[in-house]
Amino acid sequence: MANAKITGTGSYLPKEIRTNKGFESMIDTTDEWIYARTGIKQRHVIADSETCSSMAEIAATQALEAAGISASEIDLIIIGTSSPDRVFPSTACILQDKLGVGDCAAFDVQAACSGFIYGLGIANQFIRAGGAKKALVIGSEANSRILDMSDRSTCVIFGDGAGAVVLESSEEEGVLSTHLHSDGSHQDVLYINNPIAGQKQDGEQAYMTMLGNDVYKVAVKTLGRIVDETLDANGMQKSDVDWLIPHQANIRIIASVAKKLNMPMEKVILTIEEQGNTSAASIPLALDKAVRDGRIKQGQTVLMEAFGGGFVWGSALVKM
Ligand code: COA
Repeated sequence: MANAKITGTGSYLPKEIRTNKGFESMIDTTDEWIYARTGIKQRHVIADSETCSSMAEIAATQALEAAGISASEIDLIIIGTSSPDRVFPSTACILQDKLGVGDCAAFDVQAACSGFIYGLGIANQFIRAGGAKKALVIGSEANSRILDMSDRSTCVIFGDGAGAVVLESSEEEGVLSTHLHSDGSHQDVLYINNPIAGQKQDGEQAYMTMLGNDVYKVAVKTLGRIVDETLDANGMQKSDVDWLIPHQANIRIIASVAKKLNMPMEKVILTIEEQGNTSAASIPLALDKAVRDGRIKQGQTVLMEAFGGGFVWGSALVKM
């Protein structure tokens, strides 16, 4: 059976940056509060002219270049997003058109902040089963469009951006395992209503609602468990993991997972301070950063883990 190997990475962050200080004139908050509670200093904000698919296109193009393949070779596109261009067609279909990829399977995955891990898990199964040879897996989020900028409990947390990988069928080891979970009984803790289903909030626009403290408590417990599950499934020890790439939601949640792995924070790829929580984009954004700055090297073992609204959570153990 073929393996699925990451052969290229790419990313995109919008030019505009909103600092914590910038929020002080908009809402009742302070730089000190935001940084102490979350580890966030700033986030990137999508321009009016940009969309989820336009950010995905730039990240995907970089990943294709890094993999040394052309868009026409791609036979599967999966985008994890909660802020798509349209309800349908999927942002993956829109991207397929933008990149000029021919007929192939293309769809979005709605798994909130775990969207990239879910996409990676699905693409891994496609490739291992022989259903695809070269896949684009992307996380892209225009979170600013789904935030109420007067709600201080959400608007300071999230940022915009996109990250992409090319996943290719290979004889070499690649994705070692993925672990996907959900528990819909927490659906009222972190959600966005659907305006087209008649669930309007504040007139026409539906915004994210989050009980942050409830999310925090479950996330810490759940992510601790998934570390054990992932290592056990591969017969590995904590010391076998070279890098942790966590979903960038809160520095204190990240630190608790690193502690569980006995991993020093220098071995954790962090983007939260400068990017905030970019939902499904956060893991591929962090991966691309660490690949391009030379920290993550070929042959190393990377543990990725994510948690988001649903709740949905998951992990991937990957040999680079
Ligand atoms: N600035 C200043 N005060 C704020 C604030 C802000 N931006 N947002 C909330 N507060 C206030 C609250 O109103 C509350 O005030 P009160 O005590 O007068 O009622 C107080 O701060 C404490 O709120 P609480 O929600 O208990 O704070 P917290 O320590 O739990 O921190 C989060 C809030 C959101 C930072 C934290 O809960 C968190 O990170 N949760 C996880 C969220 C997450 O990971 N979400 C994404 C999952 S993918």
